[in-house]
Amino acid sequence: MGKILITGGTGFIGSHACIAFINAGYQVVLMDNLSNSKVEAAARIEMITGKHVRFYRTDMRDVEGMRQIFLNNKIDAVIHFAGLKAVGESVEKPLEYYENNIGGTIKLLEVMAEFQCNTMVLSSSATVYGCDNPVPYLEDMPISATNPYGYTKVMIEQILRDVCTANSSFRAVVLRYFNPIGAHESGLIGENPKGIPNNLVPYVAQVAVGKLKQLSVFGNDYDTPDGTGVRDYIHVMDLANGHVAALDYAMQHTGFEPINLGTGKGSSVLEVVHAYEKACRKQIPLQIVERRAGDIATSYADPTKAKELLGWEAVSNLEEMCADSWRFTLQNPNGI
Ligand code: NAD
Ligand code: UFG
Repeated sequence: MGKILITGGTGFIGSHACIAFINAGYQVVLMDNLSNSKVEAAARIEMITGKHVRFYRTDMRDVEGMRQIFLNNKIDAVIHFAGLKAVGESVEKPLEYYENNIGGTIKLLEVMAEFQCNTMVLSSSATVYGCDNPVPYLEDMPISATNPYGYTKVMIEQILRDVCTANSSFRAVVLRYFNPIGAHESGLIGENPKGIPNNLVPYVAQVAVGKLKQLSVFGNDYDTPDGTGVRDYIHVMDLANGHVAALDYAMQHTGFEPINLGTGKGSSVLEVVHAYEKACRKQIPLQIVERRAGDIATSYADPTKAKELLGWEAVSNLEEMCADSWRFTLQNPNGI
C-alpha cells in the first residue's frame, strides 16, 4: 500500500476518510490550514485507529509549504478535500472562494507535477447537476452551477479534465457527493460547523441537544410527497469507504472519471426530522417558513456507476446516520 496525502484532512469528510484509508492499510499524511477544523481531529483519528498520523498545518496555496510535504514524504496519490464549502458565504465572498478553491487546487496540481505525482481523488458535489437536470442524476448529464461555490466545483472538474488530456499518465477520479451526514461510530469525530449550521442535520442536532430552539423547515409546498425538500443523505463512513475504492480504481486507470457517491434514495426534511427524533428520543420543535433561495425540490443519485466501476455501494440507512450523528453530538455538544 502506498502513501497518500489527504488535503483538508482534519475536516468533516477528510477525517473520516483518513480512518478508512488507515484501516485499508495506507500510510496517510494529513494537511489542513485549520480554517474550518481543529487539530484535535488528528489526535482523535489516532485514538480511533491506534496509528500515528503525520499532520501538517499548511495552506494549499503556500507552494513552499506544500513542496516541503512532498520533499519529506514520497506521496503516491492525493485525496483532495481542502476547500471552502458554504454556499451563502460564497455569494458574499466570491473572490475568496475562487482564489482559495480554484487557485489552491491549481497550486496543488503544480506541486504534484513537480514531484511526478499523477493521481488525485477529488471532492466534487451533486451541486454540479445544477437545477435543470431530471433526477436521478447521472454522471454524463451536463453540469452547471447557481452560486460561486458550485462554480468552483464545475471549474475544478474542468481543470482536472484538461490536465488528464494534457498528461496521459494522470488519473483523476472526481467524486460527486450527495448529502453526507452522520459520524464515526465511536462518536469521537463528526461534523463540527462553526457558528449556526446551514445544513439540515447539524441544525437538527443542535436543536436536539438544546443549543438552538427550533428548526425552520424551508418550504412545504415543493412538488414532493410531503412538500418538503428531498435529498440523498449518505453516511459519511460509507462516503469515506467510497474514496478507498476510488483510489484503487485510479491506481489502475488513467484519465478523468466523474462518479456519484450517493445511496440512490431520497428522503424529505420531515423524514429526516422523524429519524432524528427516533435517535435522540425527543421531539424536534419546528416551524414551516419560506423556501430558501436557490434550493431545488429533489436531488438524488443514480449510484450505478459507482457500483459497476468501484464495486462500492452505501450500506447505512437514515436511522443509523441519525443515531451516529446524535452520539457524536451528545459526546461533543460544543464540537471537537
Ligand atoms: P470541511 O470544511 O469540514 O473540510 C474542509 C477542510 O479544508 C477544512 O478542514 C478546512 O480547514 C480546509 N481548508 C480550506 N481551505 C484550505 C486551504 N487553502 N488549505 C488547506 N486547507 C484548507 O468540509 P467537508 O464537509 O469535510 O468537505 C470536504 C470537501 O467535500 C470540500 O471540498 C467540500 O466542498 C466537498 N463537499 C462537501 C459536502 C458536504 O455537504 N459536506 C458536499 C459535497 C462536497
Ligand atoms: N433545510 C431546512 N432547514 C434548515 C436547513 C436545511 O429545511 O435549517 C432543508 C433544505 O431546504 C433542503 C434540505 O433541508 O431541502 C437539505 O439542506 P442542506 O442545506 O442540508 O443541503 P443542500 O442539499 O441544500 O446542500 C448540500 C451542501 C451543498 C452541496 C449539496 C449537494 O450544503 O454544498 O448538499 O451535495 F452542494
